[in-house]
Amino acid sequence: MKRISIDTLVKIVKNGGTVRTGIDVFNDRGLLVIEKDVLINRVQTLLLVKRSGVTDVPVILGKEGGIWDASGRPMHIEEDEKGKKTFTARPLRSDVGRRIAEISELKLKAREVHGRACDRLKQVMHEIKEHNGEFDTNLTEKVVDDIFDFVSHHDNAFSFLAREIISYDDYLYNHSINVCAIATAILKKFNETFSDAINEHLATRPEAILSAGSASSFIEYLPDDLRQLSLGYFLHDVGKTMIPDEILNKKGRLTPEEFDVVKGHSYIKGREILVANKLDNFYAIKIACYHHAALYDGEDRCYPDDRSPLEIPVYVKICKLADIYDAMTSKRCYKDAMNPTGVVTNIFRSYADRDHLLQFLLHAFVKVVGIYPPGSVIYLANGQMAYILDSDGPLVIPFTDSDGEQLKVMPDPLDLSDLRPGKDEMAVDRRRPLLTPIEIQKKLPKYIREYQK
Ligand SMILES: [Fe+2]
Ligand SMILES: [Fe+2]
Repeated sequence: MKRISIDTLVKIVKNGGTVRTGIDVFNDRGLLVIEKDVLINRVQTLLLVKRSGVTDVPVILGKEGGIWDASGRPMHIEEDEKGKKTFTARPLRSDVGRRIAEISELKLKAREVHGRACDRLKQVMHEIKEHNGEFDTNLTEKVVDDIFDFVSHHDNAFSFLAREIISYDDYLYNHSINVCAIATAILKKFNETFSDAINEHLATRPEAILSAGSASSFIEYLPDDLRQLSLGYFLHDVGKTMIPDEILNKKGRLTPEEFDVVKGHSYIKGREILVANKLDNFYAIKIACYHHAALYDGEDRCYPDDRSPLEIPVYVKICKLADIYDAMTSKRCYKDAMNPTGVVTNIFRSYADRDHLLQFLLHAFVKVVGIYPPGSVIYLANGQMAYILDSDGPLVIPFTDSDGEQLKVMPDPLDLSDLRPGKDEMAVDRRRPLLTPIEIQKKLPKYIREYQK
């Protein structure tokens, strides 16, 4: 909280700025002169407050209150050596360049991990087709360890793994890597944050145990288990190698017979391949068999249906969420990619309030994927394009005007969570998909590109 003189606030409001104190302000006689939620945009209001004997007012800078300039950017206070306060819109952070360089370095690392995983997966798929389902499981484990380590050591790392589909034939490789990275990140979040919360929840609400099914669903997974699970996520669709391409890539709706063949990729072909390779991984078989099973009673188009949703383990449910998320946010030959945040909201809405356990799972899911990946480019509702510097906020650098013309000079970063209430034209346009990495490189201005490695 800062105390700001009324005269200074008058100057700001005179120039088109606005203020919300975020705290009730009283004068010496105990009279309420400013209500905490009121957005002050008239000089007259401030002059009346001054006339009631108040010379400076407290302002909570943050969620509750704030000071914004005429274009809605949060202003922040700097005190010079003599203690004189000056106001500037959020200044260009000196570490912007460093941050852009960091993001691009992480992207390069992700590309390496992704490239290795992709090559390996192509080889595995090829081996399976050529050798009647057999493949080198040790080498595959090494690749998955690579993805696992990358996701474990960097925040939001999965979002850096390439979402660029070079050719549509590569879809299955990209999808397997993405599901592996996303599901691993969700599982780790669930493991670290939610298993305690769930156990507490169960202790206070015994009736939830019934709905949650087997108590073994809530065990905390040990590092070795997590790696095994990661491998399971990587191989979740391995059965698709045995499904004819004409059916997998069909543009129109599948006939009931074709859908039956596709279903077989999980509980028939997937299981067969993993068993034939003697993969000593209990989790992988469960994941392959049940990653399309219902998450709640009565869910449509799910298979197989020989298990109640209560019997499907948490880690398999996580695979299903990651699978839906990746399928919806990826571009295919028959559909465009959807905006990830819009997809997260849709998934959350479809599954919220279905059962107790699912709630915790959805929260872990939203925490992990409900963010704008740093380095991605989004559209604001007013048509401006912006580069994501930090998922928190998100903190962005808008780099075009609303007609798509590139701005000549790099503007200050803008924290979208700090915008003045009602500044909706600066909010993220969730209907538009994120740009692909190649599109991003084409659009980014030189003043951002020059920091990239
Ligand atoms: Fe699948
Ligand atoms: Fe899948």
